[in-house]
Amino acid sequence: MKKNIIVGQSGGPTAVINSSLAGVFQTAMDRGANVCYGMLNGVQGLLEERYVDLSEHIETHLDIELLKRTPSSFLGSCRYKLPKFEDDAAPYIKIFEILNKLEIGYFFYIGGNDSMDTIAKLYKYSKTINSDIKFIGIPKTIDNDLNATDHTPGYGSAAKYIASITKEVIRDGHVYDSKQVTILEIMGRNAGWLTAASALAKSEDCEGVDMIFLPEMVFDIDKFVKKVSELQKNKKSVVVAVSEGIKIADGRYVSELTENVQFVDAFGHKTLNGTARYLANKLAEKIGCKTRAIEFSTLQRCASHIVSRVDITEAYQVGGAGVKCAFDGESGKMVTLIRTSDDPYQCVTGLFDIADVANLEKTVPKEWIINDGTYLSEEFIRYAKPLIQAELTPIMVDGVPRHLFLKKL
Ligand code: F6P
Repeated sequence: MKKNIIVGQSGGPTAVINSSLAGVFQTAMDRGANVCYGMLNGVQGLLEERYVDLSEHIETHLDIELLKRTPSSFLGSCRYKLPKFEDDAAPYIKIFEILNKLEIGYFFYIGGNDSMDTIAKLYKYSKTINSDIKFIGIPKTIDNDLNATDHTPGYGSAAKYIASITKEVIRDGHVYDSKQVTILEIMGRNAGWLTAASALAKSEDCEGVDMIFLPEMVFDIDKFVKKVSELQKNKKSVVVAVSEGIKIADGRYVSELTENVQFVDAFGHKTLNGTARYLANKLAEKIGCKTRAIEFSTLQRCASHIVSRVDITEAYQVGGAGVKCAFDGESGKMVTLIRTSDDPYQCVTGLFDIADVANLEKTVPKEWIINDGTYLSEEFIRYAKPLIQAELTPIMVDGVPRHLFLKKL
């Protein structure tokens, strides 16, 4: 095989996105790729001709192991929206000039639904110019909102972190013999998968959160206050998990009711935060008890010290499967995970047309949301529990996890 490969990372990172990068790199090298380039900051960096030769940065087996355990996107990321080539072909012409100059035969992009939009557009354009470059999407997102795949790499580790830390917060809530309400704010934009993972805190030694509010259901602030005060009649510490993306009946995000300035990215997504603080203030005002608002924020997507072994392994596998299928001649596809069994849990990789994945959001099935929209059913627990199983020990140096970083060459 003569052609080189290029790989990029895009969108919000996960704790295991670099495991997919390791899977792409290692598999490409094992299968005889010549040079494996990494775009810096995704296609945005590629357009500025910013890329590296990955073998100068990943040299040993230990580097691969460190890369897998390194949070954030090793190559940097972007939230860059390619225009339609019918409207503006200039970025496409530039990208293909660069790809041809680098003798690229295979292009891999690790990302969520916005990043699959990029791959879908590049693939479509490649057909119009009869380019034989293969384009493959490698799924990742803590939001778990990609269609066609049972789940997305990155979700299991974020869910494990949320379940674990939620258990700890619930226990902490019992410390005083007085009333308090704790609101946990969890990422996931318009899909509640990650917030739903707070239900996994419930176990033999933990009563679990008292209520969970997902963006799939309309959020009613007065009803919420009423439910909290009812709960307080029977217990002192109430813990509630809310999605950053909950919306009131008129369609506004609760976070838009705050005075926070909302940043909007290239895909039109608002930065959602402040929901927990807003609701905690509301409760303090209406009920008058002690409240705490905890925004898990970026912690939930970079907690590489507590990744799920199932997740980090699958993240590596989807990277490897992407390379294998591209080298076998596939293009315009996203790698998927297909669950073949729940007990014992088993998943295999598959492929799906990229055009049918891009820009679509998979949400939590309404029938899995129970108790008047405040909890998750057993079906959800059966779905999510296998994804958070087992651990991969960090490589500890001087008491803290060691990470791999790009060398300054
Ligand atoms: O990409 C997923 C995600 O982590 C969402 O859950 C969250 O709303 C968003 O990204 C945050 O975006 P940013 O990384 O731009 O702050």
